Amino acid sequence: MAGFADRATAIQPTGVRKMFDMAGDDIISFGLGEPDFQPPEVAIEAMAKAMRAGHNKYTTTAGLPALRQKIAESWAPYQPGLSADNVCMTMSGTNALLNCFMTLVNPGKNVLLPEPYFPLYGPDVTLCGGEPRFYPCLFENEFIPQIETLEAMVDDDTVAILYNFPSNPTGATLDTQQRDELLAFARRHDLWIVSDEVYDRIVYDCDHVSFLGTGYENLILINSFSKTFAMTGWRIGYLLSTNLAVMQELIKVQYYITACSNDAMQYAVLEAFVGADDYPEQMAVEFKARRDLICSRLNAMPGVSCHVPRGAFYVFPKVEVPGLNSEEVALELLKGGVLCSPGTAFGGSGEGHLRFAYTISREDISAGMDKVAATLSGLRK
Ligand SMILES: Cc1ncc(COP(=O)(O)O)c(C=O)c1O
Repeated sequence: MAGFADRATAIQPTGVRKMFDMAGDDIISFGLGEPDFQPPEVAIEAMAKAMRAGHNKYTTTAGLPALRQKIAESWAPYQPGLSADNVCMTMSGTNALLNCFMTLVNPGKNVLLPEPYFPLYGPDVTLCGGEPRFYPCLFENEFIPQIETLEAMVDDDTVAILYNFPSNPTGATLDTQQRDELLAFARRHDLWIVSDEVYDRIVYDCDHVSFLGTGYENLILINSFSKTFAMTGWRIGYLLSTNLAVMQELIKVQYYITACSNDAMQYAVLEAFVGADDYPEQMAVEFKARRDLICSRLNAMPGVSCHVPRGAFYVFPKVEVPGLNSEEVALELLKGGVLCSPGTAFGGSGEGHLRFAYTISREDISAGMDKVAATLSGLRK
């Protein structure tokens, strides 16, 4: 009979888009996690030039050696000596994640994933026949996972743990001690670490702390140019590992997913590295001003409490409105002219929270926060 595979029917559409689809035109949107900047001009020009020069063909599966070499060198402050062999280009971080789980997870095995989470993680593991197991990253712990909790969840069928710092949706980052504890946990249980570091260059008041450079061989780093060079619509990312055996598997699997990444775009990203290398840091200056603004506005509202995150471009405040759950609060805010995501779009433990992406101008943030304050005070009356 013409039916559907269990792996497809087992997954649900993401809740993040739900509010977005309901929103009218005249709302202030803190909804989607993409920079409001355009890619660097040098990259746009390089893309056009590369296309005219005939770079409109398949590339090798792993991608353009010069770009892979450049990416490898960009990680030298963390891990010197990497080369093109340690990098496989993909068509986004999203693609890199799915490839990773396809490469690592057998049916019946489980993967430890953070909650609140970037909504793709769980369905990706399910699509690969694995069991997603969510470890809580709670507000009271500054959204950092607790080792005792991880110890209670891991078993003989756990093959990998995914870490995501800076985090979407919480903005949490790690210090080196926390990183080392999470690393030691993975080492104790001989797990793969899949480290999603797509926000590595959007950090404030601190240096990015990576799992790369720790000497742990069972590590796959996920990255993307969506956030780094504001190229969400271009769909380009990569997988990186010091472990050449896993690189070989990842490259093999990547072939069967997309054959290779986009030819001309790889030249464009290479040019961005050369001609606009400080682009993410420039964006981060503006994001930091917005972060300070939105956190101070939220923390001044009764019943709202917000950690000041040190990475990414999200805040995940606790918003308490008696009698309403987080989806209902988000709906009331939408009626009041502001789009944000209910915390539960990122897993059940997001209840009581909202996610605001500060990817809009400071003027719009101020105007949006006026509306949030007015709606919340109306709901409390
Ligand atoms: C934590 C995290 N990982 C991965 C991605 C995927 O990024 P892309 O598929 O655009 O490269 C995102 C996008 O929002 C993200 O927030």
